Amino acid sequence: MDLTVACIVHDVCCTLLTGLIWTIQVVHYPLFAEVGTAQFAAYEQAHQESIVWLVMPLMLAELATAIWLALADPSATRAVGLALVLTIWCSTALVQVPLHTKLSKAFEPAGHARLVRTNWVRTWAWSVRCALITLHGAWGTLTAASLTACVLGGATLLVFSAWWPVPRTPARKAGGSEGTLLPCIRARRSVLPSAYVQRPVGPATVDLLLEAAMWAPFHGSRPPWRFVVLGRSALAEMQHVTLDYYDAHWREHGWGSGTRGTEAQYNRWRSMTEGEITGRWGPVSFMVAICVRRQAGSKRLPLWEEAAATACAVQNMHLQASAFPGGLACYWSSWHDAARDSDEMRTFLGLEREDCCLGFFMVAACDPLLKDSRTRSRETHLDVEWRS
Ligand SMILES: Cc1cc2nc3c(=O)[nH]c(=O)nc-3n(C[C@H](O)[C@H](O)[C@H](O)COP(=O)(O)O)c2cc1C
Repeated sequence: MDLTVACIVHDVCCTLLTGLIWTIQVVHYPLFAEVGTAQFAAYEQAHQESIVWLVMPLMLAELATAIWLALADPSATRAVGLALVLTIWCSTALVQVPLHTKLSKAFEPAGHARLVRTNWVRTWAWSVRCALITLHGAWGTLTAASLTACVLGGATLLVFSAWWPVPRTPARKAGGSEGTLLPCIRARRSVLPSAYVQRPVGPATVDLLLEAAMWAPFHGSRPPWRFVVLGRSALAEMQHVTLDYYDAHWREHGWGSGTRGTEAQYNRWRSMTEGEITGRWGPVSFMVAICVRRQAGSKRLPLWEEAAATACAVQNMHLQASAFPGGLACYWSSWHDAARDSDEMRTFLGLEREDCCLGFFMVAACDPLLKDSRTRSRETHLDVEWRS
């Protein structure tokens, strides 16, 4: 291959890829988070199918010419340039491709955040390469051949863009055997306080969770659930209601979830629990009290049905919470049993005598990179018997 032709092909590929990677890094990858969990798997698959035709020919041409130039025109610039190309290929094969493969099964905030972060390696490597070839070029001269190659290259790109196929839309691709819902259900998880970070969650987010709750099934004429959304000062107040209750009743009922003991032991638990108001529960933005409003009348439905419908509503909230990008951390806490079931708590939550509180739905923020280490298998998590 002629040295000039190799230089032109190499420099054009590198420059195009640098522009491309910046667009991907700053615009494209961050917007992945806006796609929505339900559509994401199909979107990601369509993205991979489309982008491979744009990126692969350029990367292969860049690699081939970088190797050729390093051998035919050896210099420090060529050697560094080749080392950067190899870095880009290693990063692509070992980090970004596996992350894309994982994301094509279901959107996972941690995997997405890792993709955006690790891609900076490639963005940087291409930017340095682009700067290197610009400097290298500045020492040479702009020939008629270079200008002709630019004009021909631009024209080819125009023809290419007309031929480029319209990518399949996610909507047309959605609906495989799993559908779009199962990945969302798998992505739902409980995030416990040790993983919370100090980043406030806004009331609009909780409002959306409540909108999801509203669509749960219920038996009868009116939904049995009542949610009391406790913001920062109300959730501290609720914890004082809890402590006041145990101060008054620990001798008869014990404390926490039924622990009994001496006054010294109670005081130790009490000071630890009081410390949790600002410690363990400090980063929580909202505690949503999960309550069941018992129906009145003699022909009312059984309590278990009302509790079951309320649990369905909580699951809806939890599913919606998992669809938020950027680390929304939620879980259902049963809370301290006796205090939760007390008249004092009922009064605090505005409940009638027969209504009950089933615990609190915690809403906080967490690190989007938080790993999901849960496993579920049909053997251990599915007790089912099929009969024909
Ligand atoms: C009714 C109910 C009450 C729960 N109460 C607590 C609790 O008091 N403390 C706790 O750590 N987790 C509690 N959990 C959350 C479970 O620990 C969690 O759902 C379980 O570990 C499974 O994890 P996953 O939700 O991420 O799949 C509760 C869950 C349910 C359904």
